[in-house]
Amino acid sequence: MAAWVLALANLKGGCGKTTLALNLAAGLVRRGSVGLVDADPQGAMGHWVAWGSGGDGTQGLPRVLAGGADPLGAIARAARRHDRVVVDCPPSLDMAITRQVLERARAVLIPVLPSPLDLWASAETVAVVRQARQTNPGLKAWLVVNQAEPGSALTRAMAATLAGLELPVLDSVVRRRAAYRNAALEGRSVYQMGFRGREAAREMDQVIEDIAGKE
Ligand SMILES: Nc1ncnc2c1ncn2[C@@H]1O[C@H](COP(=O)(O)OP(=O)(O)O)[C@@H](O)[C@H]1O
Ligand SMILES: [Mg+2]
Repeated sequence: MAAWVLALANLKGGCGKTTLALNLAAGLVRRGSVGLVDADPQGAMGHWVAWGSGGDGTQGLPRVLAGGADPLGAIARAARRHDRVVVDCPPSLDMAITRQVLERARAVLIPVLPSPLDLWASAETVAVVRQARQTNPGLKAWLVVNQAEPGSALTRAMAATLAGLELPVLDSVVRRRAAYRNAALEGRSVYQMGFRGREAAREMDQVIEDIAGKE
């Protein structure tokens, strides 16, 4: 059976693709084996060196595969070995890669920062989803708000912009938390951070449940 491939994509940098790819992959390992493909030729995940060697895709840590010059080949290899594959897509210069990944994915999550400028910048990514659906009509796609500030609701203008982006917004919201930054610095996922990562891990589980509920 073909593996379930989840892509994290947004042509804009800094919105949380890598953070969510790593931590969602770590959460998904509890449900089966997971391969995590870094489709960014700049290889941001190179920082997770310990993961790369320590993760075997089944025991708490996903196996990280560097896409290098052939991200689609890496996805195909990961798909043969694992139940699920999570793909961290590159930013805008590699739009062709993002489109090709989306043509093979089951689902894509598009992290957006809760600011009007960032939401507008996501329109281009939504257009890539539309293109990918021409050859992959079953592609599921959601926006997910990342780095939300506790207690602050989306402004009316942002809610209107989100609604205008034509893709559904995931019910669960990812908050701005030090745990995500610290986990990255320490080369782990929020699941490996004990109580410091507890709330973030719960949040990741919520995102996973949300997606699973819509499959
Ligand atoms: N929910 C969050 N809370 C706190 N910091 C975050 C969160 N999501 C991302 N970050 C931080 O924001 C920066 C950009 O995130 P990153 O995942 O690298 O974005 P991208 O891969 O889209 O370029 C990183 O320093 C990361 O640690
Ligand atoms: Mg990144």
